[in-house]
Amino acid sequence: MVRIVELDKTTVRMKNPDHVRGIISSIKKDGVNKLQVISDFDMTLSRFGWNGRRCPTSHNILDNSQVITEEGKKQLKDLLHYYYPIEIDPNRTLEEKCPLMVEWWTRAHDLLSQQKILKGDIAQIVKESEVMLRDGFNEFFDQLHKNNVPLFIFSAGVGDILEEIIRQANVFHPNINVVSNYMDFDDDGILRGFKRPLIHTYNKNNTVLNNTEYFQQLSTKTSIILLGDSMGDLTMSDGVTNVKNILKIGFLNDKVEEHRGKYLESYDIVLERDETLDVVNGILRYTFTET
Ligand code: TMP
Ligand code: MG
Repeated sequence: MVRIVELDKTTVRMKNPDHVRGIISSIKKDGVNKLQVISDFDMTLSRFGWNGRRCPTSHNILDNSQVITEEGKKQLKDLLHYYYPIEIDPNRTLEEKCPLMVEWWTRAHDLLSQQKILKGDIAQIVKESEVMLRDGFNEFFDQLHKNNVPLFIFSAGVGDILEEIIRQANVFHPNINVVSNYMDFDDDGILRGFKRPLIHTYNKNNTVLNNTEYFQQLSTKTSIILLGDSMGDLTMSDGVTNVKNILKIGFLNDKVEEHRGKYLESYDIVLERDETLDVVNGILRYTFTET
């Protein structure tokens, strides 16, 4: 019987607790050598809120920084207020949302690219931001590193920013691989655009992994723990060549009552307004303990 006290937290919801315990027990049985973790970044590894305030996504970190003009800030905020409700609207189909997400990302990236952002300023921009990783992040990153478990961070945010966040938190270990939207700087170190392919919330799947070598190399890692906060994060593991056990953990941060049904259908474990990595850490600790 799998005994993980963190699963008793009031934030935890599961459609089928026995099924969850079955997967966890199977992951443990198959061993740490078979495990890989695939995670979203914004609002999954980073916090959604703190002290009643929203925390920034990697894009918002740029939007809010001093290097953006007041006019630029207003335009980026307008985009957020228009497109974010569409992103999380449970009543729209993926077919409807996808072109609109491409539109949002393209317009935001175009605006950012007009702001003469310097590569050399990124570290300071992150330092001055209000970004926070979820409570328990140290244990999460350290457990995976110590046990040589590959961590694939698949993000529709800004790669340069998220890498800087985990670097400044001293947890950017060599077991981490990131696929995200990376900035393209000119020879003078000024932002001139973003590299392709464009990754938005709803194309986090095979189609943007032009290098499928990563998952091919990991073909023996048949146990997967997937972490996300959006319905779009569920396809992040599509490129995995060989899946035996998969445990999907979803952070339900916003409009909880409205989204609960859908999340419970899609994620094995749903964490409601839980700003910590406690449950993930509890499962990892259990998996890594030799008994
Ligand atoms: P992800 O967490 O699935 O990787 O998605 C990144 C998040 O970034 C997504 O929830 C939307 C958000 N976002 C912004 O906050 N500002 C922006 O300008 C854009 C394009 C996205
Ligand atoms: Mg996210």
